[in-house]
Amino acid sequence: MTDWGFWQASWDEQQESYLPDREERLAAMLDAVEGVVGSAPRVLDLACGPASITTRVLARFPSATVVGVDVDPVLLAIARGVHAADGRVSFVAADLREPDWAQAVPHEKGFDAVLTATALHWLAEPDLTRLYADLARLVRAGGIYCNADHMPLVGAPRLSAAVNAATVRLQEQARAASGALDWDSWWAAAAAEPALAELMIERGGLFEGTGHPVEFTPPATWHVTRLRHGGFAEAAVIWRDRADGVIAAVR
Ligand SMILES: C[S@@+](CC[C@H](N)C(=O)[O-])C[C@H]1O[C@@H](n2cnc3c(N)ncnc32)[C@H](O)[C@@H]1O
Repeated sequence: MTDWGFWQASWDEQQESYLPDREERLAAMLDAVEGVVGSAPRVLDLACGPASITTRVLARFPSATVVGVDVDPVLLAIARGVHAADGRVSFVAADLREPDWAQAVPHEKGFDAVLTATALHWLAEPDLTRLYADLARLVRAGGIYCNADHMPLVGAPRLSAAVNAATVRLQEQARAASGALDWDSWWAAAAAEPALAELMIERGGLFEGTGHPVEFTPPATWHVTRLRHGGFAEAAVIWRDRADGVIAAVR
Protein backbone atom coordinates (compact mmCIF):
# COMPACT_ATOMS: atom_id res chain seq x y z
CA MET A 1 0.00 0.00 0.00
CA THR A 2 1.35 3.42 -0.95
CA ASP A 3 1.63 5.88 1.90
CA TRP A 4 0.05 8.89 0.15
CA GLY A 5 0.29 10.96 3.32
CA PHE A 6 4.07 10.53 3.20
CA TRP A 7 4.18 11.89 -0.35
CA GLN A 8 2.02 14.89 0.48
CA ALA A 9 4.14 15.62 3.58
CA SER A 10 7.40 15.36 1.64
CA TRP A 11 5.94 17.67 -1.04
CA ASP A 12 5.03 20.16 1.69
CA GLU A 13 8.59 20.02 3.08
CA GLN A 14 10.01 20.56 -0.40
CA GLN A 15 7.71 23.56 -1.01
CA GLU A 16 8.48 25.01 2.44
CA SER A 17 12.18 24.92 1.68
CA TYR A 18 11.47 27.47 -1.10
CA LEU A 19 8.73 29.29 0.83
CA PRO A 20 9.65 29.18 4.54
CA ASP A 21 6.50 31.18 5.36
CA ARG A 22 4.24 28.96 3.24
CA GLU A 23 1.92 28.11 6.16
CA GLU A 24 1.54 31.79 6.95
CA ARG A 25 0.47 32.67 3.40
CA LEU A 26 -1.95 29.72 3.22
CA ALA A 27 -3.41 30.74 6.59
CA ALA A 28 -3.80 34.32 5.31
CA MET A 29 -5.93 32.97 2.45
CA LEU A 30 -8.10 30.93 4.83
CA ASP A 31 -8.52 33.95 7.13
CA ALA A 32 -9.80 35.93 4.14
CA VAL A 33 -12.14 33.08 3.13
CA GLU A 34 -13.65 32.90 6.61
CA GLY A 35 -14.05 36.67 6.79
CA VAL A 36 -15.74 37.00 3.41
CA VAL A 37 -17.81 33.79 2.96
CA GLY A 38 -17.83 32.06 6.36
CA SER A 39 -16.69 28.68 7.61
CA ALA A 40 -18.52 26.20 5.36
CA PRO A 41 -17.28 27.22 1.92
CA ARG A 42 -17.54 25.43 -1.41
CA VAL A 43 -13.92 25.67 -2.52
CA LEU A 44 -12.07 25.21 -5.79
CA ASP A 45 -8.40 24.32 -5.16
CA LEU A 46 -6.97 25.54 -8.46
CA ALA A 47 -3.76 23.84 -9.67
CA CYS A 48 -4.04 21.83 -6.48
CA GLY A 49 -0.93 19.66 -6.83
CA PRO A 50 -1.06 16.99 -4.12
CA ALA A 51 -3.92 18.83 -2.37
CA SER A 52 -2.01 20.78 0.27
CA ILE A 53 -4.59 23.60 0.25
CA THR A 54 -7.49 21.11 0.26
CA THR A 55 -6.06 19.42 3.36
CA ARG A 56 -5.75 22.75 5.17
CA VAL A 57 -9.24 23.90 4.12
CA LEU A 58 -10.80 20.72 5.53
CA ALA A 59 -8.74 20.87 8.73
CA ARG A 60 -9.94 24.41 9.40
CA PHE A 61 -13.47 24.16 7.96
CA PRO A 62 -14.80 20.61 8.49
CA SER A 63 -18.09 21.53 6.78
CA ALA A 64 -16.33 22.70 3.61
CA THR A 65 -16.45 20.87 0.29
CA VAL A 66 -13.56 21.02 -2.17
CA VAL A 67 -13.00 20.37 -5.84
CA GLY A 68 -9.32 20.15 -6.75
CA VAL A 69 -8.18 20.66 -10.32
CA ASP A 70 -4.74 20.03 -11.79
CA VAL A 71 -3.19 18.73 -15.00
CA ASP A 72 -0.44 16.64 -13.42
CA PRO A 73 -1.37 12.95 -13.08
CA VAL A 74 1.37 12.26 -10.51
CA LEU A 75 0.31 15.03 -8.15
CA LEU A 76 -3.37 14.22 -8.69
CA ALA A 77 -2.69 10.59 -7.71
CA ILE A 78 -1.22 11.78 -4.41
CA ALA A 79 -4.15 14.17 -3.89
CA ARG A 80 -6.68 11.41 -4.56
CA GLY A 81 -4.77 8.97 -2.36
CA VAL A 82 -4.68 11.39 0.59
CA HIS A 83 -8.40 12.19 0.33
CA ALA A 84 -9.71 8.80 -0.78
CA ALA A 85 -13.15 8.01 0.66
CA ASP A 86 -13.72 11.60 1.81
CA GLY A 87 -17.11 12.53 0.34
CA ARG A 88 -16.36 16.25 0.76
CA VAL A 89 -13.62 16.16 -1.86
CA SER A 90 -13.32 15.43 -5.58
CA PHE A 91 -10.52 15.92 -8.06
CA VAL A 92 -10.61 16.78 -11.75
CA ALA A 93 -7.87 16.54 -14.36
CA ALA A 94 -7.86 19.64 -16.56
CA ASP A 95 -5.31 21.90 -18.22
CA LEU A 96 -5.81 25.56 -17.33
CA ARG A 97 -4.15 26.51 -20.63
CA GLU A 98 -7.22 25.15 -22.45
CA PRO A 99 -10.04 27.73 -22.85
CA ASP A 100 -12.69 25.10 -22.04
CA TRP A 101 -10.96 23.73 -18.89
CA ALA A 102 -13.87 24.79 -16.63
CA GLN A 103 -16.29 22.46 -18.40
CA ALA A 104 -14.63 19.58 -16.55
CA VAL A 105 -15.33 21.24 -13.20
CA PRO A 106 -18.77 20.87 -11.58
CA HIS A 107 -19.78 24.45 -10.69
CA GLU A 108 -23.58 24.78 -10.99
CA LYS A 109 -23.91 26.87 -7.79
CA GLY A 110 -20.64 28.72 -8.22
CA PHE A 111 -17.78 28.48 -5.76
CA ASP A 112 -17.65 30.47 -2.54
CA ALA A 113 -13.86 30.50 -2.81
CA VAL A 114 -11.23 29.74 -5.42
CA LEU A 115 -7.78 29.31 -3.88
CA THR A 116 -4.44 28.81 -5.57
CA ALA A 117 -0.78 28.95 -4.55
CA THR A 118 2.60 28.95 -6.30
CA ALA A 119 1.07 27.82 -9.56
CA LEU A 120 -0.24 30.50 -11.88
CA HIS A 121 3.25 31.70 -12.85
CA TRP A 122 3.23 28.49 -14.94
CA LEU A 123 0.74 30.18 -17.29
CA ALA A 124 1.61 32.63 -20.07
CA GLU A 125 0.12 36.13 -19.84
CA PRO A 126 -2.77 35.59 -22.32
CA ASP A 127 -3.78 32.37 -20.56
CA LEU A 128 -3.70 33.98 -17.12
CA THR A 129 -5.73 36.98 -18.36
CA ARG A 130 -8.34 34.61 -19.81
CA LEU A 131 -8.31 32.49 -16.64
CA TYR A 132 -9.18 35.54 -14.53
CA ALA A 133 -12.28 36.14 -16.65
CA ASP A 134 -13.13 32.40 -16.34
CA LEU A 135 -12.82 32.65 -12.55
CA ALA A 136 -15.18 35.62 -12.41
CA ARG A 137 -17.81 33.26 -13.84
CA LEU A 138 -16.92 30.35 -11.50
CA VAL A 139 -16.97 32.37 -8.27
CA ARG A 140 -20.48 33.21 -7.07
CA ALA A 141 -21.44 36.85 -6.47
CA GLY A 142 -19.89 37.82 -3.13
CA GLY A 143 -17.42 34.93 -3.31
CA ILE A 144 -13.65 35.23 -3.04
CA TYR A 145 -10.54 34.38 -5.04
CA CYS A 146 -7.07 34.19 -3.47
CA ASN A 147 -3.74 33.66 -5.18
CA ALA A 148 -0.42 33.30 -3.33
CA ASP A 149 2.48 33.57 -5.74
CA HIS A 150 5.67 35.40 -6.64
CA MET A 151 4.83 39.08 -7.15
CA PRO A 152 8.04 41.02 -7.74
CA LEU A 153 8.69 44.62 -6.77
CA VAL A 154 8.52 47.03 -9.69
CA GLY A 155 10.76 49.97 -10.50
CA ALA A 156 13.04 49.22 -7.56
CA PRO A 157 16.04 47.22 -8.77
CA ARG A 158 18.21 47.71 -5.68
CA LEU A 159 15.37 46.87 -3.31
CA SER A 160 14.50 43.85 -5.46
CA ALA A 161 18.09 42.64 -5.32
CA ALA A 162 18.12 43.09 -1.54
CA VAL A 163 14.87 41.21 -0.89
CA ASN A 164 15.79 38.47 -3.36
CA ALA A 165 19.14 37.95 -1.62
CA ALA A 166 17.36 37.74 1.73
CA THR A 167 14.93 35.19 0.27
CA VAL A 168 17.79 32.99 -0.98
CA ARG A 169 19.43 33.11 2.48
CA LEU A 170 16.17 32.11 4.17
CA GLN A 171 15.64 29.28 1.69
CA GLU A 172 19.15 27.95 2.33
CA GLN A 173 18.60 28.12 6.09
CA ALA A 174 15.24 26.37 5.78
CA ARG A 175 16.67 23.57 3.64
CA ALA A 176 19.65 23.08 5.99
CA ALA A 177 17.31 22.92 9.01
CA SER A 178 14.74 20.55 7.51
CA GLY A 179 16.87 18.41 5.20
CA ALA A 180 14.05 18.72 2.66
CA LEU A 181 14.55 17.54 -0.90
CA ASP A 182 14.85 20.23 -3.54
CA TRP A 183 12.48 20.26 -6.55
CA ASP A 184 14.54 17.97 -8.83
CA SER A 185 15.40 15.54 -6.03
CA TRP A 186 11.73 15.33 -5.02
CA TRP A 187 10.73 14.42 -8.58
CA ALA A 188 13.55 11.87 -8.76
CA ALA A 189 12.25 10.30 -5.55
CA ALA A 190 8.70 10.26 -6.92
CA ALA A 191 9.92 8.55 -10.10
CA ALA A 192 11.30 5.73 -7.94
CA GLU A 193 7.90 5.12 -6.27
CA PRO A 194 6.36 2.10 -8.05
CA ALA A 195 2.80 3.42 -7.68
CA LEU A 196 3.80 6.59 -9.57
CA ALA A 197 6.05 5.12 -12.27
CA GLU A 198 3.49 4.92 -15.09
CA LEU A 199 2.06 8.32 -14.22
CA MET A 200 5.55 9.81 -14.41
CA ILE A 201 5.70 8.70 -18.05
CA GLU A 202 2.26 10.25 -18.71
CA ARG A 203 3.46 13.46 -17.01
CA GLY A 204 6.52 13.61 -19.27
CA GLY A 205 4.55 15.09 -22.17
CA LEU A 206 2.93 17.88 -20.15
CA PHE A 207 5.85 20.06 -19.20
CA GLU A 208 9.52 20.22 -20.13
CA GLY A 209 10.98 17.43 -18.02
CA THR A 210 10.10 17.96 -14.37
CA GLY A 211 10.24 21.73 -14.79
CA HIS A 212 7.74 24.03 -16.42
CA PRO A 213 7.95 26.14 -19.57
CA VAL A 214 6.63 29.53 -18.47
CA GLU A 215 7.74 31.85 -15.71
CA PHE A 216 5.30 34.76 -15.97
CA THR A 217 5.47 36.60 -12.65
CA PRO A 218 3.77 39.98 -12.96
CA PRO A 219 3.65 42.41 -10.03
CA ALA A 220 0.66 42.54 -7.70
CA THR A 221 -0.75 45.55 -9.59
CA TRP A 222 -1.09 43.40 -12.73
CA HIS A 223 -3.26 40.91 -10.84
CA VAL A 224 -5.42 43.65 -9.32
CA THR A 225 -6.02 45.26 -12.73
CA ARG A 226 -6.79 41.99 -14.55
CA LEU A 227 -9.10 40.77 -11.81
CA ARG A 228 -11.07 44.03 -11.87
CA HIS A 229 -11.27 43.91 -15.68
CA GLY A 230 -12.19 40.22 -15.49
CA GLY A 231 -15.29 41.00 -13.43
CA PHE A 232 -14.30 41.09 -9.74
CA ALA A 233 -15.66 44.00 -7.68
CA GLU A 234 -12.64 44.35 -5.36
CA ALA A 235 -9.05 43.19 -5.55
CA ALA A 236 -6.13 43.92 -3.24
CA VAL A 237 -2.93 42.57 -1.72
CA ILE A 238 -3.86 40.98 1.62
CA TRP A 239 -0.45 39.54 2.58
CA ARG A 240 3.07 40.33 1.48
CA ASP A 241 6.55 38.99 2.18
CA ARG A 242 9.45 40.38 0.15
CA ALA A 243 8.77 39.46 -3.52
CA ASP A 244 5.81 37.17 -2.79
CA GLY A 245 2.26 38.08 -2.04
CA VAL A 246 -1.36 37.02 -1.70
CA ILE A 247 -3.89 38.76 -3.92
CA ALA A 248 -7.54 38.46 -2.97
CA ALA A 249 -10.57 39.51 -4.99
CA VAL A 250 -14.27 39.61 -4.18
CA ARG A 251 -16.77 39.05 -6.97
C1 LIG B 1 4.36 24.36 -7.42
S1 LIG B 1 2.90 23.44 -7.67
C2 LIG B 1 1.82 24.09 -6.41
C3 LIG B 1 0.77 23.10 -6.01
C4 LIG B 1 -0.08 23.52 -4.81
N1 LIG B 1 -0.93 24.63 -5.13
C5 LIG B 1 0.80 23.82 -3.61
O1 LIG B 1 0.85 25.00 -3.21
O2 LIG B 1 1.42 22.91 -3.09
C6 LIG B 1 2.22 24.08 -9.18
C7 LIG B 1 1.00 23.31 -9.63
O3 LIG B 1 0.39 23.94 -10.75
C8 LIG B 1 -0.06 22.91 -11.61
N2 LIG B 1 -0.21 23.45 -12.96
C9 LIG B 1 0.72 24.08 -13.69
N3 LIG B 1 0.25 24.39 -14.91
C10 LIG B 1 -1.02 23.91 -14.96
C11 LIG B 1 -2.01 23.89 -15.95
N4 LIG B 1 -1.79 24.42 -17.16
N5 LIG B 1 -3.20 23.31 -15.68
C12 LIG B 1 -3.43 22.76 -14.46
N6 LIG B 1 -2.51 22.74 -13.46
C13 LIG B 1 -1.31 23.30 -13.71
C14 LIG B 1 1.07 21.90 -11.55
O4 LIG B 1 0.71 20.65 -12.08
C15 LIG B 1 1.33 21.88 -10.06
O5 LIG B 1 0.50 21.00 -9.40
